[in-house]
Amino acid sequence: MIAENLDLRPTDIEGLGMVCKDKSIDLVVVGPEAPLASGIVDDLDNLGIPVFGPGKAAARIESSKAFARNMMEKHGIPCPKGAAFSSYSEAREYLRGQRLPVVIKADGLAAGKGVIIASSLTQADEALSDIMEARVFGSAGDQVVIDEYIAGREVSLIAFTDGKTVVPMVPACDYKKIGDYDQGPNTGGMGSYSPPGFFSAAMTERVTSDILAPMVKAMAGEGISYKGVLYAGLMIVDGKPVVLEFNARFGDPETQVILPLLETDLVALFMAVVQSGLDRVKAEWSSRACVGVVMSSCGYPGSYKTGLPIHGLGNIEEDVLVFHAGTKLANDGAVCTDGGRVLSVVCTGKDLLEAREKVYRNISNVDFEGCYYRRDIALREIDAINSNGKSGSTE
Ligand code: GLY
Repeated sequence: MIAENLDLRPTDIEGLGMVCKDKSIDLVVVGPEAPLASGIVDDLDNLGIPVFGPGKAAARIESSKAFARNMMEKHGIPCPKGAAFSSYSEAREYLRGQRLPVVIKADGLAAGKGVIIASSLTQADEALSDIMEARVFGSAGDQVVIDEYIAGREVSLIAFTDGKTVVPMVPACDYKKIGDYDQGPNTGGMGSYSPPGFFSAAMTERVTSDILAPMVKAMAGEGISYKGVLYAGLMIVDGKPVVLEFNARFGDPETQVILPLLETDLVALFMAVVQSGLDRVKAEWSSRACVGVVMSSCGYPGSYKTGLPIHGLGNIEEDVLVFHAGTKLANDGAVCTDGGRVLSVVCTGKDLLEAREKVYRNISNVDFEGCYYRRDIALREIDAINSNGKSGSTE
């Protein structure tokens, strides 16, 4: 309702180029990883269309975990101990010397399903065989990365970069499991909050100077100008940040709670990245907090029905944000479900408690058959604040 949706595939570069010219599009912002990995940014750039996002070579930081590991090792960026393999038998042999649990990752893009934490050797062998022999993720399983398992507090720090300057956003935590208190299978993300009290401003500076900026510089050293968004998925272990993964895009659902806190014009930041002038723009952030909860279809992340009417979208308070993901307009104009993760309800507040209360007060007004959402988003953080009288820990 706020934009014109075009029936175009993101891989149809010729079609996209024609639409951009026809509609005098000033800027293309590429969201998901698959078109980034297939080089949409280079293609549009070659057509002279301003485009925000990393080119194909830079997007390898997400599209090849072996490449990312190699870059981190080469440039002293903290990551779990591990190794990459293109030989199944060598990977199998290596597994035998590892402490359990162990983390096995398909090298390529696997729609968020390519990381397996194996707690027994049998599970690890099975994961390896699925990836490299049965090729359940196709060519994404040409290589695997095997990492030691590390425990700590997980957090995402995402930054804008024009290939020289790195401007971090506010940190955020996401919730990957379907069930309350992290039970059940992984999903695309069931909610998020910002900022986590255990991640201080000093930690943001440290991750920017020790992880994000060195990676952008390392890329430049390889002749790759990294422009767009660089996402570091981190584990804080004994007060030290360790990189679990890099992504070449905005995080989902973290971005839904990060951007509402941005006080600077987002387009000014995008343009500064595209025009290599990020050093001339300052990103200002609100000191408020933000919480987002995803509503999903019954059965997700397994099979689910679609086409169910969504009720109550008009019954939410005025300043509540609803981000539509798996929705569509039916012929009669009703908004219906059209995916596993259907929509997110996002609120800001003076603190996490206020933001969280507002989200849950409003989400209960939205309804569709079998709708599901986690009840514990941001709760752990608020419990930690209540029990410590301040933030969740000392990092
Ligand atoms: N929240 C994790 C991701 O966007 O990949």
